[in-house]
Amino acid sequence: MTNGKTKESVPVENRLPKHIAIIMDGNGRWAKKRGLPRYAGHPAGVEAVRGVVEVCVERQIQVLTLFAFSSENWQRPQKEVNLIMDLFLRSLKKEVRRLDRNHVKLKVIGDCSAFPGNLREQIAEAENRTASNQGLLLQVAANYGGRWDITQAAKHLAERVQQGELSPDQIDEELLSQNLCFTGVPEPDLFIRTGGEQRISNFLLWQCAYTELYFTDLLWPDFNRKALEDALHDFSRRQRRFGRTDEQVRDQTAEAS
Ligand code: IPE
Ligand code: IPE
Ligand code: MG
Repeated sequence: MTNGKTKESVPVENRLPKHIAIIMDGNGRWAKKRGLPRYAGHPAGVEAVRGVVEVCVERQIQVLTLFAFSSENWQRPQKEVNLIMDLFLRSLKKEVRRLDRNHVKLKVIGDCSAFPGNLREQIAEAENRTASNQGLLLQVAANYGGRWDITQAAKHLAERVQQGELSPDQIDEELLSQNLCFTGVPEPDLFIRTGGEQRISNFLLWQCAYTELYFTDLLWPDFNRKALEDALHDFSRRQRRFGRTDEQVRDQTAEAS
């Protein structure tokens, strides 16, 4: 049964994502198009991050998760990896004050144990400084892989079983979720990938089970405020069914409004 309301009757503001996850892809191609070495695209990518964070703060988005460096990116030429690590360190130092002023809470997700000591210290410092902020939660995925995340959760649960704290039949989806590298955070509503590729590249494999996917050909350094607004608009027009029917979703939306 419907009461004649269409999904367009729901105010767009009600359909902002709580959590946006982005694969920031295309830095290398952006640089090459300009006749620059590919790693010159990464500093330009940091500028784009600043703009996107600003929009998320203004729009009161709860969580933004950015894929900065995958567990597979170590396979890149050593020179590029070193430059990315150096840029990560410098950007953390430079941006933390601005993030703090904007009440952003910064978290780095991924296996940080592989990073150089000075980078690990800077990460801890930035996280501590912003730990009590109540605004946007900015999660930077660094040395992150979705398979690593699920594996480390499974390992943790197996240890608890071995210690007799848990029995295998207590392990359910909820418990596994609680052992992933972020917990107590809504799952991503909107996944954006720039750079034209239409793949997940081992990003949030578990958490994106019901996430709306949005792909754009724009290269990451060109992904500006307008591009994010376009993605938000696209998201606002989607109907999320989570396995139910169109009619059920419309009825529920009508009841809620
Ligand atoms: C994404 O841009 C940044 C990282 C993976 C660190 P790329 O460097 O992958 O850019 P393209 O895809 O080669 O253009
Ligand atoms: C994904 O981009 C990782 C990040 C943006 C950090 P890649 O450029 O590494 O992905 P593939 O290799 O094209 O799948
Ligand atoms: Mg790429």
